[in-house]
Amino acid sequence: MSLELRGITKSFGALVANDSIDLRVENGEIHAILGENGAGKSTLMNIVYGLLKADAGEIYVNETLQEINEPSDALAAGIGMVHQHFMLVPVFTVAENIILGHEKSKRNGILDLDQIRADIKRISDEFGFEVNPDDLVENLPVGVQQRVEIIRALIYDAQVLILDEPTAVLTPQETDELLKIMQKLADKGTSIIFITHKLREVKIVADKISIIRRGKVVGTAEPSASQEELASLMVGRHVVLNPDKAAHPIGEVVLSVKDLAIKDHFGRTIVKNVSFDVKAGEVLAIAGVQGNGQSELAQAMINLEEFVEGSIKLGTDEIVGKSVKRALDDGIAFVPESRELDGLISTFSIAENLILDRHDGAPYAKGINLNPKVVKEQAQEDTKLFDVRFQSVDDPISSLSGGNKQKVVLARELSRPVRLIVASQPTRGLDVGSIEFVHERILAERDMGRAVLLFSTELDEVLALADRVAVMYRGEILAIVPSTVTPQELGLLMAGVVHA
Ligand SMILES: Nc1ncnc2c1ncn2[C@@H]1O[C@H](COP(=O)(O)OP(=O)(O)OP(=O)(O)O)[C@@H](O)[C@H]1O
Ligand SMILES: [Mg+2]
Repeated sequence: MSLELRGITKSFGALVANDSIDLRVENGEIHAILGENGAGKSTLMNIVYGLLKADAGEIYVNETLQEINEPSDALAAGIGMVHQHFMLVPVFTVAENIILGHEKSKRNGILDLDQIRADIKRISDEFGFEVNPDDLVENLPVGVQQRVEIIRALIYDAQVLILDEPTAVLTPQETDELLKIMQKLADKGTSIIFITHKLREVKIVADKISIIRRGKVVGTAEPSASQEELASLMVGRHVVLNPDKAAHPIGEVVLSVKDLAIKDHFGRTIVKNVSFDVKAGEVLAIAGVQGNGQSELAQAMINLEEFVEGSIKLGTDEIVGKSVKRALDDGIAFVPESRELDGLISTFSIAENLILDRHDGAPYAKGINLNPKVVKEQAQEDTKLFDVRFQSVDDPISSLSGGNKQKVVLARELSRPVRLIVASQPTRGLDVGSIEFVHERILAERDMGRAVLLFSTELDEVLALADRVAVMYRGEILAIVPSTVTPQELGLLMAGVVHA
């Protein structure tokens, strides 16, 4: 099916998020959309899927004008969308989730679960999804949950599939599987709109590339273009994809973790026998395939995890058993893995989110009263430095684009004097220009003598920033290697293979 957008325009107040956008996606084409954080990509897709109403413009499917006012209109027109935050109910099975709200499954008012199960099985076999209709969603890895969402769209007969940053939450292996699935879908005639910040992925699967900057389509590119070319088209300037990491003197131990073990709520051991040091002026990266205990280890650094045994020392102070607030006050900057869950308060303004955890001290407050002027000035300064795109610092944080929310967390955490920076997936969802800035910033912090503990599933990021790399596998540290390790060696370690 072909999809054509003509003159799509959408403003939020004074901000024109989509400025007369024209875009055509052919039958069976994978059309990548590249653009900076806040360029207007998600807004455009939400319009096509009926979640937002455009101020002007037309949507044609197979050259026929469509009136799309809500998602059910989009689905009826053959347009499906997979969201980044999945809309699945964890305690239901795959089939039960897919049946939810499914019109076609209603026969005489009775939901036909068997038919849905058969459909899931058929689609799963056809495209190699390996999804079992009777599995509970809560037991499925993120990559499989995403495939459930894709199956849901396909069962609704979606022939245009919108994927908005589908790979941001995937491991490299899951990403490769998704790219293969996309290719198969396209080969059978499904048109795919693919939004990603990862240029490598675009080069692998895209048939066509459109570039959006500040709400306008500014050009198209061929997948044969180099990553550097694509990056500069997006950002409008040259971008350094691999930052310089100068040799640097290393100081005393700032963070010392000894014999750490972490259990989950069910008493299962998630992390064990973990010991390492991070010194001043050093970046220690924790690499590993997602789900090997890194998330729990990161949380333990500010002690959100209750079930911790062993010792974590900041300087000479034991921090196991202290409150989150104490940990932060003691000089830890913490960039959480999930900005939506742990990093931001969605009902607060941009300015308020920039001073979370610090709102009760000078210079922001005197007694219990916030000083709004100081809060605002600080917010203006932080957002400018981190190039956060917004209209007013008083706007709710929820009005920001995904990448700009992430920049708010980074601006807050990387702008205060600390001894230790713990950063989980710091550049998730950021555009290439912003990644460049954040990488430079992390290295600058290191050069100023801060200890940095970096958690990242991006091998490129690990190799670009780390002085040493610790690889986690099944809750333990398998090896700590210098940053001269090759991507191949690192990949093997992440898969649990240790050479004698
Ligand atoms: N509900 C809203 N209210 C006000 N402004 C909004 C709203 N939704 C989006 N915007 C603004 O519209 C612009 C485009 O946002 P959009 O989410 O489309 O960007 P994006 O290209 O998807 O960026 P990212 O790569 O960070 O996800 C941003 O400046 C954003 O702040
Ligand atoms: Mg977006």
